[in-house]
Amino acid sequence: MDIEVNVVNSINYLIGVLINLSRVEQSPKLELDKIIFIGRTFEEYLDMFSLAIEELRGKKILDCPGGACSFTAKGNKLGLDVIACDIAYYHSVEDLEDKGLLDIDHAMEHMEKAKDNYVWDYFKNIEGLKTQRLRALIECTKDRKEFRERYVPVSLPALPFKDMEFDILLSAHFLFTYADRLDFDFHKRTIMELLRVTKEEIRIFPLIDLEGNRYEHLDKIIDFPIRIGCKVEEVKVPYEFQLNGNSMLKITKGK
Ligand SMILES: C[S@@+](CC[C@H](N)C(=O)[O-])C[C@H]1O[C@@H](n2cnc3c(N)ncnc32)[C@H](O)[C@@H]1O
Repeated sequence: MDIEVNVVNSINYLIGVLINLSRVEQSPKLELDKIIFIGRTFEEYLDMFSLAIEELRGKKILDCPGGACSFTAKGNKLGLDVIACDIAYYHSVEDLEDKGLLDIDHAMEHMEKAKDNYVWDYFKNIEGLKTQRLRALIECTKDRKEFRERYVPVSLPALPFKDMEFDILLSAHFLFTYADRLDFDFHKRTIMELLRVTKEEIRIFPLIDLEGNRYEHLDKIIDFPIRIGCKVEEVKVPYEFQLNGNSMLKITKGK
């Protein structure tokens, strides 16, 4: 592996989350030092999932996993009905806020070395990126302090929700991204569980792993929703930060 790929991997490792599946299965609460609490903004979500606010009105939406995203906070402020779930929410809001601030600082230091592997149209520079990541963390933290019930602790691949409890489910920077540590079976079980709790459609972004390659089992994995009558589309979206990360999977459930 060359030095550049190594640097990208270590950055992605930092901005993502350390996942040790056997540990997750033994205990649902991942230790705080194993969680990297960084999230995207509401506006980034709209772009990466190619959604307009009007399409979301009147729908019950789940952000899974939500991490330090501001999608739930801002969405509810705008009159949407959104909740988020994540394994990180087993931890207190104060602990996650402190961890999130540290993680943003670390990620930005490392980003300097890997900036050529990202597309800067959206954030312009590292300072711009930091501003948006801080905004997401602050909005998410404030909202969780006020509306605790909107942030549900979960441990995928299982969800504590009823069949078809949500109309739309959004899942960003988790499935496919961590293909190096989440195996095929985990992906399959998680996607089927996301479909179980959803009535209309799920959207997953991006379709590449940490090295920027299309998830190697994508064709095989989409066979499972197709077999139960879902329509599966790969859709180009107007958001690309990680190079080549500009497509999402849209899985529409059959009637
Ligand atoms: C890179 S973050 C993505 C957060 C957000 N969706 C975004 O795009 O910014 C990945 C999230 O997955 C969560 N996570 C990792 N393993 C999980 C599991 N087994 N069940 C639920 N959430 C998990 C982490 O806590 C982390 O917040």
